Amino acid sequence: MLTIEKAKEINIKGKDMLKLIDFSKDTIEALVLLADDMKKNKEKYASALQGQLLGMIFEKHSTRTRVSFEAAMIQLGGHAMFMSSNDLQLGRGETIEDTGKVLSGYLDGIMIRTHSHSRIEALAEAATIPVINGLTDLYHPCQALADLLTVYELKGKFKGVKMAYVGDGNNVAHSLMMGAVMTGMDFALTTPAGYEALPEMKEIAQKISAETGSTLTFTEDPEEAVKGADFIYTDVWTSMGQEEEAAKRLKDFEVYQVNEELMALAEADCKFMHCLPAHRGEEVTADVMDGEASVVFQQAENRMHAQKAVLYTLMKK
Ligand code: CP
Ligand code: NVA
Repeated sequence: MLTIEKAKEINIKGKDMLKLIDFSKDTIEALVLLADDMKKNKEKYASALQGQLLGMIFEKHSTRTRVSFEAAMIQLGGHAMFMSSNDLQLGRGETIEDTGKVLSGYLDGIMIRTHSHSRIEALAEAATIPVINGLTDLYHPCQALADLLTVYELKGKFKGVKMAYVGDGNNVAHSLMMGAVMTGMDFALTTPAGYEALPEMKEIAQKISAETGSTLTFTEDPEEAVKGADFIYTDVWTSMGQEEEAAKRLKDFEVYQVNEELMALAEADCKFMHCLPAHRGEEVTADVMDGEASVVFQQAENRMHAQKAVLYTLMKK
């Protein structure tokens, strides 16, 4: 592990945060350590982004991402502006590139939650200020950073810690898998056939895990995946934009529910994680979600702390 002094030396000022794998392994670890420091020493950073402005564009719903980014900016001495794409000219066909160029003249950073990953890439290319990914169809990097912070708080390390992700091989799974193997955690991904992580994602993660010496496994068998797990993680079976497939997905994911029986197959002190929002009775039972092993609200709070580290390192003057 890096020291906090080393972590503070990372320099990614002015860059975009579109996906974790755009950064070095040390940078990812440094962001987690910095987030931990910022959580413990809130006052020290109270004017770190004095007077800076973050624009937040949402093309999909959000509770955590919206509020945690806004709270993070205010706690760092800056301001955040919520923009729904429905209210912007973006919703009437203005291009994402023109939007990015215009906003670059007013703001110091842009956070966006959007549909295709290529759309955020186009925005980042056109904008002259840092662009931060608040979720695309491929990735949710800020969620993964908060998840890594949660693991670090509970275990004090990454190496030798096993995370099992049970469910849909979606944006959250992709980012979590990258974050896990980059920090040297062991990672098992269990999905039903047809809902695996994308082949190119698996390939990248395999390459990284070979470098960090972590174990990475893919299986359709949830019972196999959770053996020895210190954390079991799940996400909704139907992501935003997939509502038409909801009935089919309910059926296809039936045996991938995280319940007490599945939790009992993992390590005795295994914790339950979920990016939220959760659907009790679908991907997780109410007893697990609200039980003693659940760390979902610690994770949710950590969104804000992890994002403070991201905002601070990308935007500090
Ligand atoms: N986990 C997460 O991104 O939550 P929101 O959709 O509420 O932002
Ligand atoms: N996979 C979910 C995550 C929500 C935070 C979605 O994309 O809707």
